[in-house]
Amino acid sequence: MTWHKVASSHDVEDGKAIEVKVGDTPIALYNLDGEFFATHNICTHAYACLHEGYVDGETIECPLHQAVFDIRTGEALEGPVEVPVATYDVKREGDDIFIEVPEE
Ligand code: FES
Repeated sequence: MTWHKVASSHDVEDGKAIEVKVGDTPIALYNLDGEFFATHNICTHAYACLHEGYVDGETIECPLHQAVFDIRTGEALEGPVEVPVATYDVKREGDDIFIEVPEE
């Protein structure tokens, strides 16, 4: 596991998500009230980017068929999906945001 600097804390508005990449892995980086979280960015149902969905509290709703995932755990909570989305550890050092991703 390696930490990768992926963004500045200023890059993600509170209550929003952006896409970042570590190698070829697309990752959604979320800002929940100043705390940062990361999930894989592709929905486990079909091909949709979760960062384009709707953040509601601690959940993300997929923009395509409205599956809802827990941003902290990746658990599939609602919608046409039962497979959780991968989550990644995030740490902040000053304004720098790092994500820990397994080696490919
Ligand atoms: Fe996300 Fe269908 S692609 S719910």
